[in-house]
Amino acid sequence: MSFRARHLLGIEHLTQEDIGSLLDLSDSYVALNRRDMKHSDALAGLTQINMFFEASTRTQASFELAGKRLGADVMNMGLQASSIKKGETLIDTAMTLNAMHPDLLVVRHPHSGAVNLLAEKVNCAVLNAGDGRHEHPTQALLDALTIRRAKGRLHRLRIAICGDIAHSRVARSNILLLGKMENRVRLIGPPTLMPAGIADWGVEAFDDMAEGLQDVDVVMMLRLQKERMDGAFIPSEREYYHRFGLDADKLRNAAEDAIVMHPGPMNRGVEIDGTLADDINRSVIQDQVEMGVAVRMAAMDLLARNLRAARQDEGVMV
Ligand code: NCD
Repeated sequence: MSFRARHLLGIEHLTQEDIGSLLDLSDSYVALNRRDMKHSDALAGLTQINMFFEASTRTQASFELAGKRLGADVMNMGLQASSIKKGETLIDTAMTLNAMHPDLLVVRHPHSGAVNLLAEKVNCAVLNAGDGRHEHPTQALLDALTIRRAKGRLHRLRIAICGDIAHSRVARSNILLLGKMENRVRLIGPPTLMPAGIADWGVEAFDDMAEGLQDVDVVMMLRLQKERMDGAFIPSEREYYHRFGLDADKLRNAAEDAIVMHPGPMNRGVEIDGTLADDINRSVIQDQVEMGVAVRMAAMDLLARNLRAARQDEGVMV
């Protein structure tokens, strides 16, 4: 296993080999999750705390299920209602939890960089479950696993990421991962929703769906992240759907066997046509959810191995 890191904070520092190891182990967890008996003891005796400073449905459920299937003691803390206005609050909360001896901390936070900061303060493994617009590494890994299983490979593919790129940590982590694996990534969206400095990202940018989707193997749609918009970025949702919403008609520009992805939650009729999202011949959206549990099991399993090894080196009892 090549993955030797202490934390999983982003895709940025992973190598091709790390990504390969994580996905290979994830495949074995997909198989386990399809059995009646879904338990393993990879995290037995360990404590996992899920700290979500921002609302989440699938990511939190997925991490919780992943931890439980691996035998960890899992505690969920929904912190979005509490005061998170000051950086101090985050660190104080982290220090309080740290005193309870958790082994894995899964953290989602609305501020980019908050999870990295927290990781410096605690002595357990930290997993980033999404920080602001920065990174969402397990989402990119589950997307990669979905693509690898659907397409039989994860290199030399044409992949379009469409919509609200500017506010999306999912897009950022995916661009990093897919680039590392030597794919050709295209970004499609209105110029107002394209991040600054895109020229340095090694991607091609389009503001026309028909043009950008030409012959792509994978179409990844993104939600309009209204909660991160301060002002009007689009004329109206109707206009947006007309130009950038994915429907069967626009999809005809892509390769005949192109797959359609969305990280969820979806706005049907805003960024994607509901019938297309449910079309099991094209859409792999439900597969993404399934892969999510397996990827999180693999990530926590590998981090726990690294944690145990580090503690053994330090002579701490585990
Ligand atoms: C994404 C997120 O939270 O960044 N959702 C998710 O984790 N499944 C994308 C989104 O909120 O649109």
